[in-house]
Amino acid sequence: MRAIGPNDTVGHGIIGCGVIAPFHAEPMRQYVRGVRLLACCDEIPERAREFAAKYEIPKVYTNPEELLADPEIDSVSVCTPSGHHGDHVIAASNAGKHAITEKPMDIKLAKIDAMIGVTRSNGTRLAVIFQRRTSPLWQKVRETVQSGALGKLVLGDAYLKYYRSQEYYDSGAWRGTWALDGGGCLMNQGVHLVDILQWIMGPVDTLFSFADHLAREIEVEDTTVSALRFKNGALGTLEGATSTIGSAEWEADAAGKFQVTKRGGLSHRLEFHGDQGTIMVEGEKIARWAVPGVPQPDLEAESSGGMASDPRAIGMSGHIIQLQDFVDSIREGRDPMVTGEAGRAAVEIILAVYRSARTGQPVHFPLESE
Ligand SMILES: NC(=O)c1ccc[n+]([C@@H]2O[C@H](COP(=O)([O-])OP(=O)(O)OC[C@H]3O[C@@H](n4cnc5c(N)ncnc54)[C@H](O)[C@@H]3O)[C@@H](O)[C@H]2O)c1
Repeated sequence: MRAIGPNDTVGHGIIGCGVIAPFHAEPMRQYVRGVRLLACCDEIPERAREFAAKYEIPKVYTNPEELLADPEIDSVSVCTPSGHHGDHVIAASNAGKHAITEKPMDIKLAKIDAMIGVTRSNGTRLAVIFQRRTSPLWQKVRETVQSGALGKLVLGDAYLKYYRSQEYYDSGAWRGTWALDGGGCLMNQGVHLVDILQWIMGPVDTLFSFADHLAREIEVEDTTVSALRFKNGALGTLEGATSTIGSAEWEADAAGKFQVTKRGGLSHRLEFHGDQGTIMVEGEKIARWAVPGVPQPDLEAESSGGMASDPRAIGMSGHIIQLQDFVDSIREGRDPMVTGEAGRAAVEIILAVYRSARTGQPVHFPLESE
């Protein structure tokens, strides 16, 4: 591993050039200081070449091992399907490269524990993208809830009722599979909100869940409901879906029959209730702020309301902040803002939901690896 100090430039590569990769390429090329985007890699050669041309990336690889053997590369963004993240992070670390991985950090706890163990023992940095944690809105909600201003916490709820079409699931062979997506509406779309829920409410103690695929032809769930008890004694509800229709547009044909032309999901909603007050956030805006002694802040997170229907409809600022922090963590020799240990919790909760739904039994934490 190359020794990197505060004044060195980090050489960076991107593995996986699909939907999320531009959220790494654009920041690394334009906004993040102290880094040079030198290489990209995709197993589909045409995709790698087009991506490199679009973002003016000098080196193109079709095999992650070759990119990881490049001595000019110090760090990588792992933007491959979720079930590959662990293998790519571990290979990067063993090649002496730091890694920032997309969410979920992997889909199996044993692999996640190996990622944490290998990167810690090799001394390479591991960061996990959870871009909502960078937003002043979510930071203020967390600080307020954890200050005790809501009184004794009684309920923490997350509701995600999105829409993803069958075409979305059919757009990549890995989507909607246990082997590589690792789950459905919770593991892919819902992992952000599960992370925020536990980041604000604290760890979960027990949950009981139902999960099923009711509307899409996929292996994994498109609809799920869980009852939670947090370690602090509060209760909660976790609902996830990519099967719901929150909006629809249609046209009538000459015979008066209608054709749906566009469908969309609903904005997600998180609720925090204590015996003295309530905070509700809907689609990244405060929907209710009833906190004695704490005025409602004038904060709104960058819109990701469109995410209810379109995975590309997320803002870029969270990625810019996390990527800058990742580069700084390498140059300053410190942990990044979302470490592997921090990224693990949301996946543990989601795997517990799947276990409960499968066995029909409540699940207590910590969850043992399968
Ligand atoms: N942070 C967010 O809000 C957010 C949003 C969307 C996706 N994601 C995450 O990003 C990851 C990728 O999702 P996506 O939608 O970009 O998927 P995608 O299918 O569009 O892109 C994945 C790319 O990886 C390539 N690939 C697969 N295996 C490879 C290998 N072994 N070596 C090299 N390239 C390989 C594929 O050819 C593809 O181009 C997922 O884990 C997903 O959960 C995060």
